[in-house]
Amino acid sequence: MNIVLTKKSLPDQISYRVAGTGEPVMLVHGFGEDSEIWMEQVNELSADFKCILPDLPGTGFSSSAFSNQKDLSVEGFAALLKSIAEHEGIEKFAMIGHSMGGYITLAFAEKYPDMLKGFGLVHSSAYADNEEKISSRKKSIDFIKKNGAKVFLEQLVQNLYGEGYKKDHQADIEAQVERSKDIDPEVLIAYTEIMIKRPDRSQVLSTFEKPVLFIMGTEDKIVNLSDGLAQSHIPAQSHVHILEFCGHMGMKEKSAQTTSALRTFLLHLNEN
Ligand code: MLT
Repeated sequence: MNIVLTKKSLPDQISYRVAGTGEPVMLVHGFGEDSEIWMEQVNELSADFKCILPDLPGTGFSSSAFSNQKDLSVEGFAALLKSIAEHEGIEKFAMIGHSMGGYITLAFAEKYPDMLKGFGLVHSSAYADNEEKISSRKKSIDFIKKNGAKVFLEQLVQNLYGEGYKKDHQADIEAQVERSKDIDPEVLIAYTEIMIKRPDRSQVLSTFEKPVLFIMGTEDKIVNLSDGLAQSHIPAQSHVHILEFCGHMGMKEKSAQTTSALRTFLLHLNEN
């Protein structure tokens, strides 16, 4: 299918793209990515849904918007996503977040639950960083300062994928690095600090009354499968998809299954 993407901006704040018509869904990308990461899903979903694709400040079409941000936190980015929904005249929608995009989605669900019909965590977690994770993030910050964005992203991106996909898709992985390598090192450092600072949001999972989708990978080295499984028992209504032989990037590694899980979830939200 040929998708038509319309680019829009909240001046100096954030740019986003819109594809398709129908009930709205906002797809929030993760760390070291931009909204392009969702394209295989948007290709299908835009036939039935209005897909809203923000580029978080400092990435993609929002690359020059980073220096204008006053609130560098997952809560601050959640407020930006609310401004996008308002700009689109949307009162209620679904939000799906990949990894760091999921941390922002949880902050959104905490602050503006009435705006959501449901939300999805794709390889993400409501837990805060533990000591080990904080220490590895601090090492990443030192590494970025010393070596710059590209070398850091080369290592990071390789680590996101499961072994099977990595063997056969090196060109795709390199294309992802190539696309991300212009993210300013300051932006990568700021996002790393934002992730360190974010609190545990398990309580959002227990208080949110509408459906929550979990997509997990059995080979995810970033978000533990056991953490995801434990969290999937918390909400009143959970939809759970476990992608076998998949790392942290179901959108690419198991594209059709991920799209189908999203589609089933979105149809369910919109029939209620
Ligand atoms: C992401 O994919 O957004 C990050 O790897 C998340 C994280 O490091 O916690």
